[in-house]
Amino acid sequence: KILVLDFGSQYNQLITRRIRDFGIYSELLSHKLSAEEIKEMHPKGIIFSGGPNSVYAKDAFKVDPEIYKLGIPILGICYGMQLMSYDLGGKVEPADDSEYGRADIEVIDDDAVMFKGLPKKQYVWMSHGDRVVEAPEGFKVVATSKNCPISAIANDEKKLYGIQFHAEVRNSQYGLDILKKFAFDVCGAKANWSMDDFIDMQVESIRKEVGDKKVILGLSGGVDSSVTAVLIHKAIGDQLTCIFVDHGLLRKNEADEVMNALSRDLGVKIVKVDAADRFLGKLKGVSDPEQKRKIIGKEFVEVFNEEAKKMKDAEYLAQGTLYTDVIESGTDTAQTIKSHHNVGGLPKKLGFKLIEPLRSLFKDETRELGEKLGIPHDLVWRQPFPGPGLGIRVLGEITPEKLEIVRESDAILREEIKKAGLDEEIWQYFTVLPGIRSVGVMGDGRTYDYAVGIRAVTSIDGMTADFAKIPWDVLQKISVRIVNEVDHVNRILYDVTSKPPSTIEWE
Ligand code: XMP
Repeated sequence: KILVLDFGSQYNQLITRRIRDFGIYSELLSHKLSAEEIKEMHPKGIIFSGGPNSVYAKDAFKVDPEIYKLGIPILGICYGMQLMSYDLGGKVEPADDSEYGRADIEVIDDDAVMFKGLPKKQYVWMSHGDRVVEAPEGFKVVATSKNCPISAIANDEKKLYGIQFHAEVRNSQYGLDILKKFAFDVCGAKANWSMDDFIDMQVESIRKEVGDKKVILGLSGGVDSSVTAVLIHKAIGDQLTCIFVDHGLLRKNEADEVMNALSRDLGVKIVKVDAADRFLGKLKGVSDPEQKRKIIGKEFVEVFNEEAKKMKDAEYLAQGTLYTDVIESGTDTAQTIKSHHNVGGLPKKLGFKLIEPLRSLFKDETRELGEKLGIPHDLVWRQPFPGPGLGIRVLGEITPEKLEIVRESDAILREEIKKAGLDEEIWQYFTVLPGIRSVGVMGDGRTYDYAVGIRAVTSIDGMTADFAKIPWDVLQKISVRIVNEVDHVNRILYDVTSKPPSTIEWE
């Protein structure tokens, strides 16, 4: 395995991801680990990640200097290279201008192992304030650029390497090749790791941590909590109890699908709480979107808590936190980008010890893991669904009648999108009920009924989105079916705005 030590770059976990994609196990660990602790893990190599600090800052992140003497190959990236240079007697200075974006480098050493066989001139992604102005003794400069004469350094004898640019991002032309050369040629790692090994490792570590204690988990039916549940169940069986709160705002058949896939077919112990009346009661008369969200979030925690209390001897709380949740909420070293707004998320102070086995994974890795664990394809690839559920798709006050319209029309939309083969192409698609009524004609009679909106977007991460261009004939089929099959609907609207300026959800 190859360890990545974290100095706070937004790209730190991406480095581990790239290494895992090569078939080598990699994980991100704190830069505070001692050389002794690192040695005991027997890594084939170590990578120092980038980071936002300057090595001269008062509270700059440092490493145990003994680490350089372990004889384990080290690659420093950006801040990592500056730190290595500084620690070993080189010189680091603020650059005249901080450099951000594409830069052209030239490899000037024919024997540079990290660049062997690659074109001498290539573009890379730079993002730094400081730069190395003098390489430490024993190091040669192997690549340069206009703004950064020392772009890459090497000490073959000690197997210490540094690159100022971010090889882990796609905007570095040969970045992946460079990382591969470090992993395979310098460290001598072998490509023999797969998701099966991840399962084995996690199962073992969960067993070791939990012992004979009990674990609870809040199941939402989404990918992350489902995969977490099945993984932990594989490790400790019925010592895990999942609490599945049905707040009455789920999609059509959703609760049954989740229960069938996880409980009936995979044997996961699930306590399903039917709390629809309770949620709808609290939401009665409330039309402000934020207030609705708050009520749903608060009620969710309360219901969960009441159930959890019934299980007296539960000591651990399992959560399906992914790497992206961790990074967006800020970590030890990385800056906060945005606070995660997950109503399914439970407050830290419930008094349990946390288990988060997916913390190092990206969404697509989580899906791969889910399929390996035997969770049905459709559940693993389902579109995102917000914690407050259909509650924020009935705009304004929620009534059972309006919920039914959204639930039924959404089911038709999903069915037709799947039939048209568009379900894995469109990132998210659902219906909303704006609450507008308009005049129509059906048979011989006048109608005065609701309009249903169709929202469908393409996106990578939900932060920005484009409205999806569903073919007219598919839209027409959806429109005809909803109007014919769902009571009290006589008009269909198609949302053609992107995010920004709109958001994906209407509330
Ligand atoms: P917006 O509407 O902010 O949505 O563009 C972006 C993505 O986040 C989902 N979403 C939520 N997910 N809890 C969640 O777990 C929430 O409170 C929540 N609000 C929005 C939304 O469905 C979209 O995928």
